Amino acid sequence: MKQVTDTGAIEKAVDEIIAANPDQVAQGARQADAGRLVRRTGDEVDRRQGQPAGRPGAGQGQARAAGLMFFVRSASGADLPGVAALLERSWHDTYDSIYGAEKVAEITVAWHSLESLKARLVSPGSEFVVADDGARIGGMAYAAMDKDEPDVVHLHQLYVEPDLVGQGIGRDLFAEVETCFPTARRMRLEVEPKNTRAVRFYSGLGFQEVGWTRNCGGDQSGIPAMIMEKTLAFPG
Ligand SMILES: CC(C)(COP(=O)(O)OP(=O)(O)OC[C@H]1O[C@@H](n2cnc3c(N)ncnc32)[C@H](O)[C@@H]1OP(=O)(O)O)[C@@H](O)C(=O)NCCC(=O)NCCS
Repeated sequence: MKQVTDTGAIEKAVDEIIAANPDQVAQGARQADAGRLVRRTGDEVDRRQGQPAGRPGAGQGQARAAGLMFFVRSASGADLPGVAALLERSWHDTYDSIYGAEKVAEITVAWHSLESLKARLVSPGSEFVVADDGARIGGMAYAAMDKDEPDVVHLHQLYVEPDLVGQGIGRDLFAEVETCFPTARRMRLEVEPKNTRAVRFYSGLGFQEVGWTRNCGGDQSGIPAMIMEKTLAFPG
């Protein structure tokens, strides 16, 4: 395989590939027109881990709403106010009926402040992605390698705007983060069991219950949660 290292040569090589594969290029354009979620070209250079941007097919789930066109890409500092606002809306929408609005407001201040999001954005061994349609952030996901178990990655956050749930954005955010940790063999998460939509969503993606915690999110939160895991299979 020919290796290219400078930008001009890369562009030339891409042009050659496009010229040699007109059918696939046309098919890709048709899929994008149909409202598929796709990774924005150029995201690869922004990835903090220097990973390839995932296996073919990742980040390409179908958005079902007519005209919906969100791109899954790495988050930047400029996204964080929008992400914080999304988290606040999603948390109230999802958890007010379970924990009460006051407790949710308390958690939002502690966990979703710009400071905590900024710390996550620059944390090594992590991936912070957003779904963006050019006008707003429709969803976010954050995952990070376990500090002690080298084959475990934690899916810490996966949230979609309340008015956009059920349209494929969650699936596509997950497909992206799932491919970002080639050394991980298991993905682990904590979920509120009364959040049945999320439990069904994760079960559908292959997660299984493996245990329980009394302190969801750590820090002696006092919020019990179910722990779920999925085995990650990378092509050999
Ligand atoms: C849970 C969540 C992230 C899922 O994202 P989403 O964009 O709504 O889900 P998608 O549209 O990608 O759905 C993917 C799959 O999940 C399942 N699913 C989604 N919504 C569902 C629902 N209301 N009931 C049952 N299954 C559902 C379906 O099996 C769907 O598979 P399909 O493509 O075969 O239909 C999103 O609903 C959300 O942000 N919820 C509120 C916050 C939250 O609970 N986050 C998780 C915290 S642990």
